[in-house]
Parts: sequence; structure tokens; C-alpha cells
Amino acid sequence: MHCMCIPTLIKYPKLSSWFWLSYKPSTLFLVLYNATMGDMDEPTPENYWSLTEGVFNCLIDTERSNVFEQAIKNTVQKGDIIVDMGAGTGILSLFAAQAGAKKVYAIEFDNRNVVTLQKTIEVNGFKDTIQILHGDVTKIDLPETVDVVIGEMIATGLIEELQIPAMQNIRRFMHSTTRVVLREYISYIDLVSNKDEYYGFKFPIVRYEYSDEESLISDPLSLKEEYSRIDFLKNEIESGVNVDVNITIQKNGILNGLRISSHTVLFDDSTLDGTFAYSYPIILPLTPCEVYRGDQFQVKLSYLYCKGFGNLEYSVVPLKNVL
Ligand SMILES: C[S@@+](CC[C@H](N)C(=O)[O-])C[C@H]1O[C@@H](n2cnc3c(N)ncnc32)[C@H](O)[C@@H]1O
Repeated sequence: MHCMCIPTLIKYPKLSSWFWLSYKPSTLFLVLYNATMGDMDEPTPENYWSLTEGVFNCLIDTERSNVFEQAIKNTVQKGDIIVDMGAGTGILSLFAAQAGAKKVYAIEFDNRNVVTLQKTIEVNGFKDTIQILHGDVTKIDLPETVDVVIGEMIATGLIEELQIPAMQNIRRFMHSTTRVVLREYISYIDLVSNKDEYYGFKFPIVRYEYSDEESLISDPLSLKEEYSRIDFLKNEIESGVNVDVNITIQKNGILNGLRISSHTVLFDDSTLDGTFAYSYPIILPLTPCEVYRGDQFQVKLSYLYCKGFGNLEYSVVPLKNVL
């Protein structure tokens, strides 16, 4: 799953165009790789679903949840009106209620989550503070304007999940000093060597670096380059990315992955990188090839935010050796 806490891909992404021409470090001008993840259904609320396991994983991801707890407590003031976008188990709503919120509107789309969320609110004694709004966060109207926006509908690189459309809808109910707990999200790429063999077979598939599984962690072959920065306090957010980034190999190795990773800045200036269930790095597969320190590649990456892997395209082309 994608942030394990989230509704995930409806169909598995397929590599629709994948070719390997040839690559020799001495002749660095051949197209190395070109792939697209085409033909996916777009995740819309109608076909989106939520895994019970997913919201539980968010809950037990203490690294993630503790950072959110602290940020919510540093941001919410007594008497505030709050909205929680995609409430799931309700953990972020509970932190806000505990921090002294007067009202928390907990928006949740998934029927099963709504039923258990109601029980959770009741057994924890927050029936009068937390009100569930059962509906689609990208369309729903709120009964009043809010002082604080919370919500974690983030998947790595903002490829999946709905943080941007959710924020764009909820923005209609913000006033000039509304605080947004998940304030900034920055995405990076680097070139890596990553385990792609299982049970003796090769798998040119999208892979994930879950922080609790050491064998999944990549060996970085280059430095990380920032390719996207979203400030959720701003009114205008681009619809997607379309970037060309030149990346230089820092050490010899077998290149077989383009890694996407992230950095989140919260309203109280605390930060969060990938955790067990939050925005863990994604490895997009590359045809394996030997690379040498100083080799330079041009990475092209494009996708629309929060529309899934269906529109994601990437290529990695050798340029020259710069050392
Ligand atoms: C990543 S989980 C986060 C759960 C919880 N906020 C937390 O931090 O543990 C995202 C939640 O958003 C819900 N969700 C997904 N799409 C939604 C939509 N369009 N409208 C409302 N809720 C949605 C999912 O059902 C899931 O419970």
C-alpha cells in the first residue's frame, strides 16, 4: 500500500513502454531508459477505498503520529474550530480535541471508518467536540470557517492520495489567519541501487523503502535533488511536475532505480521524512547498468499531483562524465 495508511492503487501500475538501447560509460549520449506508468484509472473518491490495515498502520506509526501530536498541540489554541481531512481512526482529531479545540469536523469518506470513528469518539468522551462529516473531502461544505486545518492524506511525491484537492476545497473555509498543520511538502529524486531480485527472479516493478525493513533500503549513487516544493498556505498550487534534472553519480555501482523521497514541514517548524507508514521512499525501476563516479544523467519526470501513477512518466538519459 502507499502510505500504508491510505487508499492505494486500484490497479497495479504497468510499464507500458520500456526500452533499453545500450549504455557504455565511455559513450554517454545514448538513451538509457524510458518508461511510463500508463493506463491506470485515476483514483477518485468513487473508486478509492481505504484499507482497515492502512489506517491502523498510521495509528501505530509512532514516529509519524508523535510528530503530528506535538505539531497539533503547538498549533491549536483553546476554543479553535478545526477540520481534520480524512480522519481515519480519528487520531489527529483526538489530538486536536485534547489540545482544547472547541469543535473538530472530522471528514471521512469510507463507510467502515465512519462507523468505527463514531465509536472511538464516544469511548474517549469527545462526542460533544468531534463531529463526523461523512463525505468526500474534495467536495464537502463545512458548516463554518476553521482556525486550523489538520489532515494527512499524503503519499510520496504527492503522486497518490488527495492532500492537494482536499486543501483546495477546504481553502474555501479558511480565513486570513487559518493555520495549516501540514504546511510544506518537498520532494526529491536521486539515483540508487536497490534490491530488485526476489526468489531468484528479477522484478522491474515499483518498489518501496519501508524504514523497518533493512533489505529494502537503497544504496544511494548520487546526491538528492529537490524537484518540487508545495506550500499549503499558498492559494495557488501547480497541477503537477514536469522537470528535467541533471544528476551526477558520486560512486561506482549498479544503477537500477530512480528514488523519490520527501521532507515535510509542519506549522510549528517540526519536520518529518519518510517513516514506516508515512511518505516512505518509492523506487521507480530502471534497467540495471554499471555507472561510474562522474557519470551524468538527465532525469525527466512528469506527473499530475494526486492523480496516481497513471500519468507518471520518467526517463533517465546518460549525458557525459563530468569528472
Ligand atoms: C492516510 S489516512 C489518514 C488517517 C488519519 N488522519 C491519520 O492520520 O491516522 C487517510 C484517510 O482519508 C480517508 N479518505 C480517502 N479519500 C477520502 C475522501 N475523498 N474524502 C474523505 N476521506 C477520504 C481514508 O478513508 C483514510 O481514512
